[in-house]
Amino acid sequence: MTRPTVWIPRRLSDATLDRAQRDYDCIINWEDGLSTADDIVAMSAQVDAIIPCHSEHFPADVASRLDPRLKIIANHSVGVDHCDLPTLKARGIAVTNTPDVLSDATAEIAMLLMLGAARRAVEGDRLVRSGNWDVWSPSFMVGKQVTGARLGIIGMGRVGRAFATKAHGFGMEIHYFNRTRLTPELEQGATYHATVESLIEVADFLSLHCPVTAETKGLMNADRFAMLPDGAVMVNTARGALVDEAALVGALDSGKLSGAGLDCFVTEPGGNPAFAKFDNVFMLPHIGSATVATRDAMGFRALDNLDAFFRNDIPNDLL
Ligand code: 8YV
Repeated sequence: MTRPTVWIPRRLSDATLDRAQRDYDCIINWEDGLSTADDIVAMSAQVDAIIPCHSEHFPADVASRLDPRLKIIANHSVGVDHCDLPTLKARGIAVTNTPDVLSDATAEIAMLLMLGAARRAVEGDRLVRSGNWDVWSPSFMVGKQVTGARLGIIGMGRVGRAFATKAHGFGMEIHYFNRTRLTPELEQGATYHATVESLIEVADFLSLHCPVTAETKGLMNADRFAMLPDGAVMVNTARGALVDEAALVGALDSGKLSGAGLDCFVTEPGGNPAFAKFDNVFMLPHIGSATVATRDAMGFRALDNLDAFFRNDIPNDLL
């Protein structure tokens, strides 16, 4: 039987690319640049499968133009908001993702952002790095302590729960909102809130861990920022579109928020220049899952899904 041909449009980890080339005929974008909609449509006529990242977009107008040769999109991501699932399903194209394997790495970045925003990491680093650190005082660079504070988590899926576990280790009191309440084993003593609003009102720190959908787009808007306790810190490692960025700027300008930690932005790559003036905003360029171990695990999980599909099994992560 001829080997399936797989397009890998981004530079995945070496271990992933080695295994992919061992088992499939691969077309690899070694230059690692972004592909346009037309590139994706053209490539779909040459391959049986694609392993995209969240940076390759399959909205309805692209999905409807894909060549019938393409059988599966085995995403190298847990988020699938870059894929129009109903259109792809209607076209008979299977879609998989890579849950579980990136939860700890992403939770680590959420912790970094939370601590960095709370303890003024940007401001402190800039001061020391600039050579202008010429004073010290006990009233200097005083921040917000996480120990004993209430952490509100929106979206208690795998990443939300991994973050809750780590934050519990920091002595935080965990509160959460989720579409459905978790079992006591998964809840691990966290307090459930039946509405986002009830959670927000108690969240000294708020961390977003839900997917972006039609319902959650712009979830953090001006009204909801206003409901947070004064001086709250918001962390976003999920998707930029969950936040109304103009409303976030307003909440930072007014001092309602004492800081924010952002790994995700509405516009990526690029971010939002409106945040640059805030020293209390700690920003990273969407690197939540960017560790050596996790990149390998994501690549292997995507390949496991591909292998199952071409063996005529149902992939574990079929959506
Ligand atoms: C990845 C992500 O960096 O998995 C996701 O949904 O946003 C990130 O973990 C990216 O998609 C890598 O392909």
